Amino acid sequence: MRIGVDYYPEQWDRSLWEKDVAMMKDAGVKVVRMGEFAWSRLEPQEGKYDFSWLDEIIGLFEKAGIEVFLGAPTNTPPLWLYEKYPEVIQVGKDGSPVSIGIRGHRCLNSPVYRGFCKKIIKKMVSRYKDWTSVIGYQIDNELEANHCCCPVCQQEFRKFIREKYKNIDEVNKAYGNSVWSGEYSDFSQIGPPFGPHQTWLNPSYMLDFNRYASKSTVEYVEFQRKLIHDMDSKALITTNNWLCENMPDFYDMFEKLDFVSYDNYPATLLPEDKESLYSHAFHLDLMRGIKEKNFWIMEQLSGPLGGWAPMSQTLQPGMLKGYSLQAIAHGADTVVHFRWRTAVSGAEMFWHGLIDQSNVPGRRFEEFQELCRTVDEWRELEGSTPESQVAIIYGSDQEYAFKIQPQVEGMHYFTQLKAYHDAFASLGIGVDIVDARSDLSKYKVVVAPTLFVTDREMVDKLDAYAKRGGRLVLTNRSGVKDDNNRCIMSPLPSVFADMAGVHVEEYDAIGKRWQKLHISQAAWLLQDKRMWAERQGDELACQLWCDILESDGAEVLARYGENFYEGRAAITANQYGAGEVYYVGTVMNRCGMVSLMSEIIRKAGISHIENLPFGVEHTVRRKGKDRWHFLFNNTSSNQEFEMRWRLPAGMRNNYDEAICLLPFEMKMWKEED
Ligand code: GAL
Repeated sequence: MRIGVDYYPEQWDRSLWEKDVAMMKDAGVKVVRMGEFAWSRLEPQEGKYDFSWLDEIIGLFEKAGIEVFLGAPTNTPPLWLYEKYPEVIQVGKDGSPVSIGIRGHRCLNSPVYRGFCKKIIKKMVSRYKDWTSVIGYQIDNELEANHCCCPVCQQEFRKFIREKYKNIDEVNKAYGNSVWSGEYSDFSQIGPPFGPHQTWLNPSYMLDFNRYASKSTVEYVEFQRKLIHDMDSKALITTNNWLCENMPDFYDMFEKLDFVSYDNYPATLLPEDKESLYSHAFHLDLMRGIKEKNFWIMEQLSGPLGGWAPMSQTLQPGMLKGYSLQAIAHGADTVVHFRWRTAVSGAEMFWHGLIDQSNVPGRRFEEFQELCRTVDEWRELEGSTPESQVAIIYGSDQEYAFKIQPQVEGMHYFTQLKAYHDAFASLGIGVDIVDARSDLSKYKVVVAPTLFVTDREMVDKLDAYAKRGGRLVLTNRSGVKDDNNRCIMSPLPSVFADMAGVHVEEYDAIGKRWQKLHISQAAWLLQDKRMWAERQGDELACQLWCDILESDGAEVLARYGENFYEGRAAITANQYGAGEVYYVGTVMNRCGMVSLMSEIIRKAGISHIENLPFGVEHTVRRKGKDRWHFLFNNTSSNQEFEMRWRLPAGMRNNYDEAICLLPFEMKMWKEED
C-alpha cells in the first residue's frame, strides 16, 4: 500500500534533483517511475550510451529509501533513429508514414526498431539489475493495438490470416466473400484496411484485422517482457494501460505480465448525466478484473489537465486524495501520481502535476501529503483484495464488432456495460468486470451485456453457469453473430434462446428517444420503482433499442408502454436448471436498471446498504476473515445518511451508523465480528 510519483529528471536542471528527492521523502513518497521517454538522453547518438545521469538520480533515490520503477524508453525513439532508418516509422491507413515530432511513431513490428529496442533495454536492465532500489520495468507507454500499415505489417497481417485459415477458400467462406465479388484468389490480395471508407469494408475481415492488431501489440509486449525477464528474473514487469480508440485485448496483453497498471485521470468536472458519475469505479473494476488481482495506478490525476487541449477545471478540495483512495478501495495497491512537478516546456506544460511550474508547493501538494499519511495508516490493508459477488463480462471481440458496425446511434458496447455497473454501484454492490473465460462459479450474479459475437465455448460456459444455479442477465444484441462476425440464421437471441426461454420476433432501433416501459404484475419492481422514482425523480423508460419478445416459457417482467408494440414483452426471466436467466431486450433508464438489479440481487441473497445516497459508493476488501468497508463520496456536496442494510433473511444487522461524508471523502472501517 503506497503512494508514488512520476518523475522526469531529464526535464529538470540538475540543481533541483536533491531538493526534489528530499521533498518526496518528506512527503512520504515510496516509489517513483522514471525514464519512459528518455531515449535521446540515454542514447544521444547511435551506439553511444549515457546512463551516468540516470545512475546519479537513481543513487539519490536509493539513498532516500525510495524505490524506482524504470520505463523502457521505447515509445520515443530519438530523431536520429527515425532519420537514419525511416522504415521504422509507422504508416497510416492513407499509406503514408505518419509525421514524426510527437511520440509513439514507431512501428512495433519493424525488425530495425526492435533491434534498437533490444540494445537499449539490454543496456538498461543489465546496468540496474543489481541495484536494490530498482524494482521493475514498465514496457513502452500506453500501448494501442497496432494498426500500422507499413510493408512489414502488411506481411504480418497476411501471415496471421494464412496461419488462421490455411487456404484461401476457407477465408472466403469465413468472410462470406461472395458479397460484392469480394472473393480472394490468393493471400497476396489480403492487406490491412487502407482508405477512408473503412465502415464499408467486410465486417468479418475487419474483426480479423482488429484481432491481428491486438495480437501484434501483445507479441511486442512479450518481446520486451522476455528480454527483461531473461536478464532480471526478479524484476516486476508491467505496462501502463489506458482506454483508447484501438484497445488491445487486455486479457492477452497482461497474461504474462506481473500486474496490471492503469493511467487514471477521472474528470475534474463532474458529469451532468448521472450514469457517468460511477465511471471511474467502472474503469478501476475493469482494470482489476484483467488479472483478477490487485493492480497499480501508474499515472494518477494530480492537477488540472491541458496542453494540447484547453484546460480542465482544477481539482476541487478533496478530489486529489479522494480519487487516489478510491483506486485503493477498488484494489490498487500502489498509486503513482502524474507528475511530481508540472513541465515548463513541451506540449504538456499545462497538464498539471502535484506542484505547479512556480515550484511553490500549494493546496494540491498539501492534500497529497495528507494522502501519503492516510495510506501509511492503512498498512493493515496489505494483502487484502476486493470482494465481489457480481460479475460483468467484458470482451474485446464485442468491443471491436460494435465499433465496426454500430447498431444504433448512441448505443456503444462500453456504455452498455457501464449502465449495469452503474446500477450495482448505486446499490452499493462491488462488481468484478471479467473475461468470459474466467471462473464464473464464484459469482451469485453474472451480467453478460451485448454478446454480439459468440463462440461455442462462451455459450457453453454461460449455459453451465445458469444451469448450476447462477443468475445470468443477457441483453439485446446478443447471439447476433458467429465467431466470424457473420449473422446467425436463427431467431434471436439464437444460441441463447433456450437459456432465455424467449425469442425476438422483431426489433426496433429507436435511438435516443425515450419510450414508456410498463412493468408487469411483479410487485417488487413496482415497489422499488417507487423508491427510486422518489429519489431520482424518474419513471421507468427505455431507449435506443427494443427487442419485441415472445416468451417461450419465460415470465414477462416488463412490457413496452407505447409504439405499435405496446403491451409486448421487453424483459423476461426464465427458470433454467437450478438458475435463472434474465433477458433485457431494451436499454432502460437508471430507474429501471436499479430496480431490476435490486430485485436480482435480493433473489440472489446479496446484502447491501439499501439507502446509499446517489453518488456514494461502497466497496469491500477482504483478507482472510477480515473485511474492510469503504464509502466514497463521488459528489461535490456533503452526504449524510443513517446507514440501513438490506440483508438476506436471518442475517443480523450490526452496521447501522450515521454517516457524514464531505465532498470526495473516503471513509474506511473494519468489520467487527
Ligand atoms: C498519459 C501519458 C503520459 C502523459 C499523460 C498526460 O496518457 O502516459 O505520458 O502524457 O497522459 O497527458
